[in-house]
Amino acid sequence: MKSQIKLSFLLLTGILACFSIKVNAQSDRNISVLSNYDARIDTILAQMTLEEKVNMFFGIRMFSSAGVPRLGIADVEYADGPFGIREELMPNSWMPAGLGNDLATFFPTGSALAATWCPESAYDYGVAIGTEGRTRGKDMLLGPAINIQRIPTGGRTYEYLSEDPFLSARLSVGYTKGVQDQGIAACIKHYALNNQENNRGKVDVIVSPRTMREIYLPPFEAAVKEADAWGVMAAYNKVNGYWCSENDLLQNQILRNEWGFAGFIVSDWGGTHSTVAAITNGLNVEMPTGQYLGDKLLDSVRAGVVSEEIINQRACEILRVRLHVKPVPPHEANRIMTSQPRQQQIAYEVASKAIVLLKNEKTQLPLDTAKYKKIAVIGANAMQKNATGGLGAGVKALFEITPLQGLRDRLGNQVTIVYAPGYKPYRRYQEGTRTRQPECTSADPDLLKEAVNVAKDADIVLFFGGTNRDLETEGTDRESICLPSGQDELIKALAEVNPNIVSIIVSGAPVDLRAVNQYSPAILMSWFNGSAAGHALADVLLGTISPSGKLPFTLPVKLEDSPAYFLRNYPQTGEANSDIFADLVNENRSELKSTDNKDLAYYSEESLVGYRWFDTKNIKPMFPFGHGLSYTTFQYASIKTDKAKYKSDETIKVSVDLTNSGKADADEVVQIYVHRLKSKVFWPYKELKAFDRVNLKAGETKKLTLEIPVKNLRYWDEAKYDWILENGAIEILVGTSSGDIRLKTQVDI
Ligand code: BGC
Repeated sequence: MKSQIKLSFLLLTGILACFSIKVNAQSDRNISVLSNYDARIDTILAQMTLEEKVNMFFGIRMFSSAGVPRLGIADVEYADGPFGIREELMPNSWMPAGLGNDLATFFPTGSALAATWCPESAYDYGVAIGTEGRTRGKDMLLGPAINIQRIPTGGRTYEYLSEDPFLSARLSVGYTKGVQDQGIAACIKHYALNNQENNRGKVDVIVSPRTMREIYLPPFEAAVKEADAWGVMAAYNKVNGYWCSENDLLQNQILRNEWGFAGFIVSDWGGTHSTVAAITNGLNVEMPTGQYLGDKLLDSVRAGVVSEEIINQRACEILRVRLHVKPVPPHEANRIMTSQPRQQQIAYEVASKAIVLLKNEKTQLPLDTAKYKKIAVIGANAMQKNATGGLGAGVKALFEITPLQGLRDRLGNQVTIVYAPGYKPYRRYQEGTRTRQPECTSADPDLLKEAVNVAKDADIVLFFGGTNRDLETEGTDRESICLPSGQDELIKALAEVNPNIVSIIVSGAPVDLRAVNQYSPAILMSWFNGSAAGHALADVLLGTISPSGKLPFTLPVKLEDSPAYFLRNYPQTGEANSDIFADLVNENRSELKSTDNKDLAYYSEESLVGYRWFDTKNIKPMFPFGHGLSYTTFQYASIKTDKAKYKSDETIKVSVDLTNSGKADADEVVQIYVHRLKSKVFWPYKELKAFDRVNLKAGETKKLTLEIPVKNLRYWDEAKYDWILENGAIEILVGTSSGDIRLKTQVDI
């Protein structure tokens, strides 16, 4: 009898534990499938000791946190992503475990995926990586990585999706759903505002609430509300004074209370800084050790500083995911090779949609193999593999087709291919030392000479420039966007002997293309494009596939044109400047203006990130956001909206007729931007609000209807702490890129 009373009392506290989140009456708040487990969790919590609960709150191995063995609740197994399942590591170190069948598919990295502008492809990508995660016995995939690409030099730009929150959000939702439909949790990272790698473990991001809500949070918000993401990783940095892993506003108030996140938050590896603040302000799992959320937490509970209610709440959030994601029995994990043909096919499809044709003068492309019998392939990037490199998660890939291999496979004996490296691949550290190498150096005279000789006799030169994973790496931002290893000098020398050059840029982030642009009639952006990179590239070069990728970021002419550099708020030197725009938005916000503290990152460009800055400031980029050509041409006609005036709960339906007026079947990405005509509130010149990727046969016309919910046009009002619609006239701009608007119309909201 006595124990029965005790049990029902505990059940009662348990029920309170699982429901203790304050429910904010927001209509589009996520209703998570995870809450179906709450009643069962109450029963489980009632049977658990305090020690067992706390034991779930930290890493017991490098990539595992504990379950409750006594109750048959399995440990949580994590897999690093976001562009392929990382190889198995030794339990307590970063050393490879040395398995033979953990070779995975290397998927195109974030910026490549984003260049598809295709949420369906992001879904397929999620399905493929989720499947491989299950094959390996994992419960939570540490991806997608969805921070906004704020600076062109960001070390993880290649992992992230886009500079635009709307594009990032659409793809985050697709990726997250694809993963979780395989019964494995996604862990969206790095929440939030982890937009630089330099000093990431210390930097405090000072950002206005409006900018945070409109630019940096939407990809996370969408993944929670629309894809019911079950995991979130707290970033290393601080935001407005508080570490992300103990940030009450970000974790409890916004993520849980406003958005309805029901799963659990894991710290970035080594990103926990306290016990009481971390657990109270929302963190569930400290990875990879229990420095703060182990014994210290037990002591804090025993001392009465942390309540059992909080402990139950955090345990409940973990158990929800643990009960929903079925553990893979250890004997079923790693039974087959991780990478399988279906996933490899998806990697190929994404790669082929991602390649961006930046320029095609004199219709150099597709390559005419009847005309070009001798092709010079110049540049070490033609042979560079990018599945691993630098610091951080890489993929032990089953295979990676390099561009040179792809061309050889597709061309066989039809033509002669002659290869010369032209330059030495960039290496961050001098061999055998910790001496950091400069990024922008001059060409190697011997390699240059050899390449010039090869180019001289060829019918056409394919120049492979760009970066690699040693230059673009976790933990460090680039110092500049120059093409390393004297590539500018090399291409100039090549052009002197053979001006018939097609340049292929292999990189995950913006690079300075001034020289390449000057000497190449045609340029392709081919990314870190995954296991099938070389085949996808060869198919685009040869015209089997018409290129259809669009830039997910602005390619500036020079680094100093981009907002954070222009305003000198990055790199943090202690001399940050404020923009006039920022002054207008936040008249009295002196804290965004200047600093002598190098650990503070002032986001004083406010919402003028990427093309929002270039457009508003009238700065011409090298290639604009959303740009990408095709082997065909598209005509845009007959723009119409279904109404002239819309209420706040309505949706603007914009229709256009799109015609493929050329000779190749191809995909086009139609983009809709909104420009405010008269407003009291400050807005960027225009913002992406809808897009659609469509396939059209040569000669075909399709009527397309794109939708813009009026609620997506609201701004975050800092004083009212709410989304507010500013009424008035807006212009709807339909284009093939942010720099090539083809049709316009006007409506009132
Ligand atoms: C990275 C995360 C990653 C984790 C585990 C951290 O350094 O920031 O993205 O998931 O390590 O490898």
